Amino acid sequence: MKRLFVSILIFSASVPSVWANQLSQKHAKLGMECQACHINNKAVLVEDEACLVCHGPISKLVASTHRDRKPHDTAVSPNPHNSAHYGTTLSCFTCHSEHKQSEIYCHQCHAFKYKSL
Ligand code: HEC
Ligand code: HEC
Ligand code: HEC
Ligand code: HEC
Repeated sequence: MKRLFVSILIFSASVPSVWANQLSQKHAKLGMECQACHINNKAVLVEDEACLVCHGPISKLVASTHRDRKPHDTAVSPNPHNSAHYGTTLSCFTCHSEHKQSEIYCHQCHAFKYKSL
């Protein structure tokens, strides 16, 4: 019981006050409720499924960022949602964050040109 209380408190008290340049600003503009992602009001456990309710199915997401690209073409960046190494298996949160700056995982090794997230 005590633990439940503490986690509810954290959920309501520790919302970052400045979310400049982040996805949450774009989502907030749409009037999205916290519960759209934090199903059952849980503070941290956000699953890919919560995103795919609106952005899925995954095939549609893959199609939205498809580009014609030959291997090793440095002018065109590969589809982040269907990559050579990982296919469609990466969790959204490998790259997208809601309340902090997103970081494209691929850029640990590559320098692709994507629009800023
Ligand atoms: C309730 C529906 C809904 C949910 C849930 C949702 N989104 Fe969105 N999201 C939207 C809408 C609507 C837009 C604006 C679409 C547009 O501008 O084309 C958007 C925009 C975006 C964008 C594009 C922002 C840009 O730069 O243009 C990304 C990336 C994104 N969402 C990722 C996510 C991720 C990751 C999750 C899960 C944590 C998520 N969304 C959950 C509805 C949702
Ligand atoms: C841990 C390092 C690492 C990460 C992370 C990584 N790659 Fe790679 N990738 C490589 C290496 C090494 C090669 C082989 C060398 C080459 O061809 O550039 C490669 C090759 C590729 C190629 C074939 C070469 C080309 O330009 O056509 C593509 C496409 C590619 N990676 C896409 C991605 C994408 C998309 C991501 C993120 C989802 C990613 N990689 C993440 C290391 C990585
Ligand atoms: C490997 C990194 C990576 C992963 C994993 C990833 N994304 Fe993305 N996402 C990107 C990048 C990079 C872009 C911008 C693509 C561009 O430049 O066109 C993007 C764009 C988007 C957009 C905007 C699409 C549009 O039409 O412009 C949405 C929505 C989105 N991602 C949702 C998701 C969801 C939901 C997941 C999980 C199922 C996910 N992404 C997984 C890197 C990623
Ligand atoms: C579009 C999906 C989405 C919406 C809407 C959303 N969140 Fe989140 N939230 C996430 C994700 C994903 C994480 C995991 C950390 C991250 O990506 O920033 C998270 C993490 C958190 C955390 C844990 C602290 C942290 O930064 O890791 C808190 C607290 C939180 N959210 C509160 C809220 C509140 C309060 C609202 C409503 C005002 C809200 N969230 C709306 C997706 C969302």
